[in-house]
Amino acid sequence: MRSVTSFNDNWDFEGTKVTLPHTAVELPFSYFDEKRYQRAFTYSKTFAADPAWAGKEVSVVFDAAMADAKVSLNGTQLVAHKDGYTPFEARLTGKLKDGQNTLSVTIDGSENPEIPPFGGQIDYLTYAGIYRDVWLKLNDPVSIGRVKVETPDALAAKKTVTVRAELSNPQNLAISGTLTAVLRDAGGKTIGTTSAAAAATVTLSFSGLEGIALWEPTNPALYTVELTLSGDVVTTTFGFRTAEFTPDGFKLNGKVLKLRGLNRHQSFPYSGYALGRAAQERDAEILKHELHVNIVRTSHYPQSKWFLDHCDRIGLLVFEEIPGWQHIGGAAWKDEAVENVRRMITRDWNHPSIVIWGVRINESQDDHDFYVRTNKLARELDSTRSTGGVRYITDSELLEDVYTMNDFILGNEELGGNRPRTALRPQQEVTGLDRVVPYMITEYGGHMYPTKSYDQEQRQAEHVRRHLEVLNAAYGDPQIAGAIGWCAFDYNTHRDFGAGDRLCHHGVMDMFREPKFAAYAYASQCEPAEEVILRPVTFWARGERNIGGVLPLMVLTNCDEVELKYGNHPGKRIGPDRESFPHLPHAPVVVDRRHFSAEELGLWGMRWEDATVTGYINGKPVKNVRFVSDPVATKLEVVADTSSIGPTDAVRVMVRALDQVGNKLPFLFEPVEITVTGAGKRLGPALVPLRAGSTGFWIQATGSGPINVTVTSPVLATTTINLTAV
Ligand code: GAL
Repeated sequence: MRSVTSFNDNWDFEGTKVTLPHTAVELPFSYFDEKRYQRAFTYSKTFAADPAWAGKEVSVVFDAAMADAKVSLNGTQLVAHKDGYTPFEARLTGKLKDGQNTLSVTIDGSENPEIPPFGGQIDYLTYAGIYRDVWLKLNDPVSIGRVKVETPDALAAKKTVTVRAELSNPQNLAISGTLTAVLRDAGGKTIGTTSAAAAATVTLSFSGLEGIALWEPTNPALYTVELTLSGDVVTTTFGFRTAEFTPDGFKLNGKVLKLRGLNRHQSFPYSGYALGRAAQERDAEILKHELHVNIVRTSHYPQSKWFLDHCDRIGLLVFEEIPGWQHIGGAAWKDEAVENVRRMITRDWNHPSIVIWGVRINESQDDHDFYVRTNKLARELDSTRSTGGVRYITDSELLEDVYTMNDFILGNEELGGNRPRTALRPQQEVTGLDRVVPYMITEYGGHMYPTKSYDQEQRQAEHVRRHLEVLNAAYGDPQIAGAIGWCAFDYNTHRDFGAGDRLCHHGVMDMFREPKFAAYAYASQCEPAEEVILRPVTFWARGERNIGGVLPLMVLTNCDEVELKYGNHPGKRIGPDRESFPHLPHAPVVVDRRHFSAEELGLWGMRWEDATVTGYINGKPVKNVRFVSDPVATKLEVVADTSSIGPTDAVRVMVRALDQVGNKLPFLFEPVEITVTGAGKRLGPALVPLRAGSTGFWIQATGSGPINVTVTSPVLATTTINLTAV
C-alpha cells in the first residue's frame, strides 16, 4: 500500500524552524543585491522512523530545489541532483536508524557554471531554496513506477489508450502478480478494465472506446487510468486530443487554432520561486480567465506540477522548455541539458495541456551536434509531440519540428532597416528556407518597450498598441501558428537587465499580477460569452498626457460598439478600428478628433467633466465604465483570491486605493500597513507602498483556524478581511 504525505513541516534552516516551500533569502521588492542568495544553505529535518515502515520502501521526494542539491541521512549522502527545476528522490530504505533520524539537504544558490542555465548572464533570478513541496513516500518493495499514457488515434470514432508502466523494484526481487488498469472518466465512471502479468515493463491497452470527449480548451475533458499492483494504486490523469504544428498553423483535434499566449516566469515578489499550490493554480487561472490567452510558455524551464495540472483542468495549452538562456556550456553542461530533456518529458508526458517541448537553450546560437541530441531524445521519449527550440537568430538550422522565433522587429530600426513599421516578419525571411515550415512566434515586446504600471498613460497606450499590432499580424498570417508575448508578469532580474531596480517591467501585469492596460489587449480578444471586456486606455485626467486631453482614446473591448459620453454632451457611438487592426478577433475602438467637429471639441471647454464609456452588443448596452473628473481617495479595497488556505499554502491578497466610482488611483503612492493575526503569517514586509494604486502580498497558513488581515493607510479607512486556514 502506497502512502505519499507532506514532508513540508518542521525543517530547520539556519537555526530557525521553517515550512516548505521555502525561499532561502526573502528579497525586498526591488533594488536588492541578488548575490545575497548566491551561496550554499543547509536544511535539515529530524524525524522518528516508524517501526511500521519495516519491510517498506521509504523515500523522500523533492519536487524541486534550487540548486545542486545533495541529500544526506544521518551524515551519509544519498542522492545529488544538480537541476533546480525537476524532481528527485532520496531513498532511505535500509539506511534508517531506530528512533530519530536526520535528513539534511544542502543546496547552492551560486550560479554554478556547470549547471544549466548558468555560465553566462541570465535575465531572471533563480532564487535559492527548497522552493517546491517535499513528500514522504512509503511503498511496497515492488511497486508501480513511471507511467506513460498515450492515445494514438484520438480522433477515430473508436479510440485506443495505451498505458506503459514501469515497475519500481530497487531490491531486484522476483516480480509476480497482476497489474490491473481501470479507465475512468472525470466523473469516476468506469469505462474499461484490463490486466496483465506484472513485469519490469508492462503495456496495457484499451481499444474500441466510444463516446469519449476530446480535451479542448473550451471543454478540457480529463480521463484517468488507475493502475493496481497488489495493493499499490497509482492514478494518472490524461486527455484525448491531437496537437499538430503544420505549415498552415497549429491544429488541435484537427482544427486550426490560432495560438495567443504569454510567457510566464514562475517568480513572485519577496518569496521568489517559493509559492505553493494556490499561487501556481492562480497563475493558470489568471492566464486563462483574466488574460484569456489559450497558451502559455513556461519560460525558461519546467514549472510546478500544480501549475501544469491546473492547465490540464482548465484547458490552457502549454509550451514547456528546458532550463537555459542564451549560453551553451561545455560537454558536461550539455550532458546535463540533455538529461533535462529527459527529466522534463518523463515528468510531464501525460499532460494533455502540453503541446510542444522546447529542446533548445532559449535564444542560443546553433549547435548542430548538441541539438541533434536533444531532438533525438525528445522524439524517442515522446513521439506524439512536436519539438521546438526558441531562437532570435534568422537562418538558424531547423532541427526541430517547429521553427519557434522571438521576433523583436517591431520598433527595431537597426534590425528593420528602412522598412515601414513592421509587427512581424514573414516566416521565410526569418528562416531563410525555400519552403514554408511549422512556425510560431515565441516572444515579442518585452525589452523593446518596457512599461511600468505607473508609467505615463501615453506610454502605456503605445505598449498596448504594440501588443495589438503583433497579435493582429499573427492573426493575419496563416503561416504563423500563433504568438506568445513577452510577458505575462513583471519579474525580478539581475543588475544587467531591467530598469536598474532589479525588475524587468515587461509584463502585461505587474509582479502581483495586477493588470496594466496591455493585459486587456489580450483579454479583449475573447468572445463576450466568456467575458465582456471594456477597458478604456486612460486614467481620465485633463493633464496626464503631453499637451493634455485623452484623445486618441483607445478602448479595448469585444463589444460591437462603444459610446463615449463626456459631461452632458451628446454621446458618440463608435465601432472597432478595423482599418488599423483588420485581423484581430476584436479590434479596439479608437476615439479621436475625427469623431468630433471643431465646435464640439470647443464645447469640451476648460472645465474637465465626468465621462461614461458604454459597450454595446447587438445594439444593447452591456457594460460601462465611469470616470469622475475630480477623483478623491475614497476606499481601500482588500481582496483575497480565496478565503480558505490549505496547509502551509499561501494565498494572495490585493490592496487597491479607489476613487468614488471604484477606479484605481494610479498615482497614489501612500504606504499601507498589513497586520495579520491568527493561524497565518504575511510573506514580505508589513509596510509597503501602493504602486499604480495597488499592491499585494501573500498570507501563508501556519496552522488551522481563522486568520485576520487588517490593512491601514494614512489616507483611507482601515479594512479588515477574514480568512481561514483549513
Ligand atoms: C528575450 C529573452 C527573455 C527576456 C526578453 C526580454 O530575449 O528570451 O528571457 O529576456 O528577451 O524582452
